[in-house]
Parts: sequence; structure tokens; C-alpha cells
Amino acid sequence: MGLRALRRLRGRDYLTLKDVMPEEFRALVLRSLDYKRGLVSGTPLTRKYVAGIFEKPSTRTRVSFSVAVSSLGGTFLNLPKESLQISRGETLKDTALVLSRFVDAIAARVKSHNTLTELASWADVPVINLLSDRYHPLQALADVVTIVESFGGRKVDVAFVGDGSANTCASLMFASVLMGYNFRVGAPESYMPREDDLKFAKRLAELTGSEIDLTEDPKEAVKDVHVIYTDTWFSMGVLDIDKRKEIFPPYQVNSELLKAASPEAIVMHCQPWFLGQEITEEVAYGPRSRAFDEAENRLHTSKAVLEAILGI
Ligand code: CP
Ligand code: NVA
Repeated sequence: MGLRALRRLRGRDYLTLKDVMPEEFRALVLRSLDYKRGLVSGTPLTRKYVAGIFEKPSTRTRVSFSVAVSSLGGTFLNLPKESLQISRGETLKDTALVLSRFVDAIAARVKSHNTLTELASWADVPVINLLSDRYHPLQALADVVTIVESFGGRKVDVAFVGDGSANTCASLMFASVLMGYNFRVGAPESYMPREDDLKFAKRLAELTGSEIDLTEDPKEAVKDVHVIYTDTWFSMGVLDIDKRKEIFPPYQVNSELLKAASPEAIVMHCQPWFLGQEITEEVAYGPRSRAFDEAENRLHTSKAVLEAILGI
């Protein structure tokens, strides 16, 4: 059943979790855990090439994805935007058409999600989102794998605290709903998830049995939850830095806030973090933090996604 769901991903783009069905997502989670436990061997990407375009900096995504491609037998081409002719005005159309003649998949970290959808509309090969302003679907898969490692198959309550308009929040919302988890956002009124994303998640939640709640009160958001998740208040490319500096401090994840959560609650952060801002150093490196497991899981999940799209 798992493998059948994985096979359905073959040749498809991975741009947003809105395009992924619950059984496909759950199969990716299980396959990632199999990779982590060393239960999968083989090199399904032998003689496959993956182009990785980066318009923004990246440590975890670039390295985990690149190592995943190599360990599955393929070759990853690290292509900072400045090294490509797009930086001199070559169109996305021509870039996609040309790269499709050389490589088996195009992965990209982009400023605007539209760049990904345009690349995907022209490419003859699958396009994989390595983060856009709207979504971070590879991150959310690693997040869920990390949650499953702590809570197994339980239906948990997840709270995202901080910038509810962030890419990571949108993707974690979809991922949580795909898993049937309840999802709460604790964020300032003007930094909630976008209406269209919320509408989509709520419709899906009716099928999977999840509940989605929004609150401006961080304590209410984390009350009795199993997972507290936060991300930087200043995502790459945001412009309203001064306003954010004023509004976000009450949303810091610190030991005081943790007291309102379930006694078994874990703390997650996609990293990079800004210690003393959205999370305290004590919590980031404390016993509840799963941030480095989450980072490690980027590797195992990337393998599962690459294998499903290119290899199975
Ligand atoms: N979490 C994440 O995507 O990290 P990088 O920006 O380092 O890739
Ligand atoms: N929300 C952050 C995630 C970084 C991995 C950003 O977009 O900068």
C-alpha cells in the first residue's frame, strides 16, 4: 500500500503539499523512517542528474539534498542563481527548456513561488521546491518525521508560534492536516496564514479529522499541545523588519511559554534560528528541543522524495 502510494509520485512536481494526498504523504513519512533506520539500500538515482538552483542562501537544504542525491547514486549540480544566465535576463522558459535536455529533475530555492510554477510549466522534468516565499514542503516532511519519532502514530496537537505568514507555517499546516493532527497558530493578527491556504487546509481537515485554530494569544496557542514550533520572525526577503521587531517579542518560545504545553511537549525549529528572538538559547538547546533531529531528518526525507519522484 505504501509503495503503491509512493509510485503515484513518480514524475510529479513537489512544489507544495497542496498537491499531495494523505496516503502519499504518509507513505513518504514511512519511507523516510525506513531510510533513517537503514532499511533501504540501492542506488535508484544511478545516472540521474538533479539541477539545484539557489536564489537565496541555504545550508541544511543544499547539503542534505545534495548528499541525498549522491547517496542514491545520482549527481547534484549546485547552481547559485548568479552563476546562471537567468541573472543576465535569460527567461525562466528557456532555462527550464534547456535544463530539461540535460537533467532529470530541477530543484530550486526561489524568492517568489511564481518562479517555481513558471519553471514547472515549461520544464519536461519534475520540479522540486527547496523553499519559496510561500512554502517549504521538504522541511514540513522532515518536521512530521520528527514528530512521529517522538509520538509514533498518535494524533497530536501542533502549535506554530510566531510568524504565521511564514512559508514553514503554511507547509506545516498542510502536513499536520495530511497526518490528521490538530493545528493551532499563535501569531499577531496581521501575520496569520493566507486566507487561500487556510481555506484549502480547512477543506482537507474535514476529510482527515483535523482541527485548525488561530489565536493571537501565544499561551492559548500552546495550551496542552504536544509540539511547539517556531521559525525566525524575519524570513529571507521580508521588508517590514521594524514593525516585526515591535510586534513579535510576546511570541518568543521560552521556558515560561513551555509551561502551558503538555508535559511531554517537544520544541521544533527549522533553523537557522536567532537566539534570544523567537527562541531562547535555553530552550533551543534544552531537553525538549528536537531541532537537530529535525535537521538530520532533512537528509532521510530528501532521499524518500527523490526516490519516489525519480527512482521507484
Ligand atoms: N531549514 C532550512 O531550510 O535551512 P537552510 O536555509 O539552511 O537550507
Ligand atoms: N522562514 C524562513 C525559513 C528558512 C529555512 C525563511 O524563509 O527565511
